[in-house]
Amino acid sequence: MRDSTTLPMPGESDEWWRGAVVYQIYPRSFKDSNGDGIGDLPGIIAQLDYLAALGVDAIWISPFFQSPMKDFGYDVSDYRAVDPLFGTLADFEQLVAGAHARGIKVIIDQVISHTSDQHAWFQESRQNRDNPKASWYIWADPRPDGSPPNNWLSIFGGSAWQWESRRRQYYLHNFLSAQPDLNFHEEAVQQQLLDDVEYWCHRGVDGFRFDACNFHFHDRELRDNPPAAAGVTLSSVRAENPYSMQQHCFDKNQPENLLFLERLRAALDHHGAVGLGEIGDEDAAPLMASYTAGSDRLHMAYSFGLLTSTFSAAHIRLQVQQLEASINPVGGWTCWSLSNHDVPRVLSRWGGMAPDRRQAKLLLGMLGSLRGTLCLFQGEELGLTEAEVAFDDIQDPYGIAFWPEYKGRDGCRTPFPWSSNAAHGGFSTAKPWLPMAAAHLPEAVDIQEKAGNSVLRFYQCFLAWRARQPVLKTGEIVFFEVPEPVLMYVRHAKNVAMLCVFNLGAETVRVQLMATLSTTFSGLAASDLAPLAGHGLTGATLEQDNLVLAPYGGLFARLDLSEASSQSVPVTSGLTSGDSP
Ligand code: BGC
Repeated sequence: MRDSTTLPMPGESDEWWRGAVVYQIYPRSFKDSNGDGIGDLPGIIAQLDYLAALGVDAIWISPFFQSPMKDFGYDVSDYRAVDPLFGTLADFEQLVAGAHARGIKVIIDQVISHTSDQHAWFQESRQNRDNPKASWYIWADPRPDGSPPNNWLSIFGGSAWQWESRRRQYYLHNFLSAQPDLNFHEEAVQQQLLDDVEYWCHRGVDGFRFDACNFHFHDRELRDNPPAAAGVTLSSVRAENPYSMQQHCFDKNQPENLLFLERLRAALDHHGAVGLGEIGDEDAAPLMASYTAGSDRLHMAYSFGLLTSTFSAAHIRLQVQQLEASINPVGGWTCWSLSNHDVPRVLSRWGGMAPDRRQAKLLLGMLGSLRGTLCLFQGEELGLTEAEVAFDDIQDPYGIAFWPEYKGRDGCRTPFPWSSNAAHGGFSTAKPWLPMAAAHLPEAVDIQEKAGNSVLRFYQCFLAWRARQPVLKTGEIVFFEVPEPVLMYVRHAKNVAMLCVFNLGAETVRVQLMATLSTTFSGLAASDLAPLAGHGLTGATLEQDNLVLAPYGGLFARLDLSEASSQSVPVTSGLTSGDSP
C-alpha cells in the first residue's frame, strides 16, 4: 500500500548523490573527544547515531589532514596524513566504517589548488630554481622595478605574490601567503594529486569536495587582470576587499582545467567516487555548466547563489532559474546550500536581528525541495544564529585582515552545542578554540531532542519525509510568478508532480493559487490538488481557488496533471497523458 504522504516516482535513479542530503562537518567545532578544546574524528564517530537519526545521506568533512592550521586545515602540508589534532588514520577508517554501517556516505575535502607553505614540496621548491620541485609552484621574476610580476590580488588581502629571497622570485598565492598555489601546468603535479585522491579512494571514501577548483590553473603569460567595470564591484567578494575591483580573467577559470577535470573524473569513476566542485566566481553558472557537463567531468558543482546577503523570493528564483538554464542543457548538476563555514549563518544573514524558528523550518522545506543536491552546515538543524565573536577571540586570518569592516568567518565556526548545562555546551571538557556562544546553549541538542516542535525535530521529520519523495530528488522544476514574499514551484517527473509554495515573510499572505497555476497548466481544477502531510511544515490553508499562508507557512501538494496541458513545461509526455501517480 502506498503511504499517503509519499509521491513515488518510477525509475528512481541509482546515482545516490543526485538530490542527496549532505551534512557538512567542520571537524574543529563538531565534538571534541580528547579534551584539547578542538573537535576531532573520534568526536564525529561518537555522534554518528545523531547524524543517522537526522536522516542525512552523506557527510562532508572539512579538512582533517596534516596542516599548520594557518587557514584551519585549508592549508595542507601532507595530503595523506591525518593531523594529530584530529586523530589518526585508524580513526578515519573507523569513521568510514561506522558511517557506512549506518548507510551514510563519506565525502572528504581536497584542497589541491594550493598547499601549505610547510608542505615538503614547497619547502623543496623554494630553495632554488633548479631543484626537482622547482616548477611545482608558480614562480615569477619581479618586474624591473622589483615589484610583483602583475596586478593579481589575494582574496585574503594584498598582492597575490610573495617574495622568496632564495630564488629571488615571487610565488603566487590566491589565498594566504602561507598557501602557495600549485602549478597545474606541470604534468607531475597533476599526476601526484590524482594519486593522492586515489589514496583516499582506497580508504573507502565515497566522494570529494574539491576546494576552490576553478583556481587550479593560471594564465601562463601572467597577464594583468582588467579592472572591474566602472562602479561595479564583485558581489561575491566583500566590497571592502580590493579583490572585488578586478575582473579575474587570468588568475583563475582557465580552459586547461577542463582536461584536468576529465583526468580527475576517470580516477573517481575507477573507484565509484563522486566529485563536488567549489566554483567561486561572479558569473559562476557557465563555469558550473562546463565543469559538470556530460559524465566525464565533475558530478556536481557547489553553488554560492544562496550564500548571499540578498534575500527575497525573486532572488532565490533567479538564482535557481539561471543555473538551471545553464546546467540543464548540458546535463550538469548542482548542489545548493544556505550556510557553510565561510559565510554568516543563514538565519542571521536572511533573518536579520530577529530570526524566527519558523523561518529555520521553512528554509529547510524550501532548500529541500529545490532541484539539486543539498548541503546542510552543522548547526543549521538547530536553527543556530551567527555567533558574536569578540576581536580578542577572532582566529580567522581573513577577519583579522579586514577588521572591523569584516569580522571574518568565526561566527559560523563556533563549537556545536550538544548539551545546554554541561561545561562548554558539552562540546569539550576544555576551553574550546573559539568560545561556545551563550546564545546557542538554549538551542542545544539535548533540549531540542525533547521539544516536540523544535527545529531539530522538524529537520528529522522533514528529511525522513523527503527521503520518500523521489520527485524532489530528480524531478524537473518549474517556477511561477507570484508577488513577494512567496516562492512557488512545481517539481515534476513523468506522471508525478508536486506543488511547493512558501511564504518567506513574517506576515500572512494570500496566493491566487489556481489562477497562478493556470499560467503554466491549463485545465486544472482545485480538485486536482491534494495537500501532502507528514513533512512537518504548517501554516497553509486552501480556500477554494486560493491559498492562505501563515507567516513562514508552506504547502506541499500532490498535483494531478492528467487532465492538464502545458505550453511551457518541457517534459510533458507524462504530464498530459492519462496515467496518474
Ligand atoms: C574554503 C575556505 C578556504 C579557501 C582557501 C575556500 O573556498 O571554503 O574556507 O579558506 O578555500 O582554501
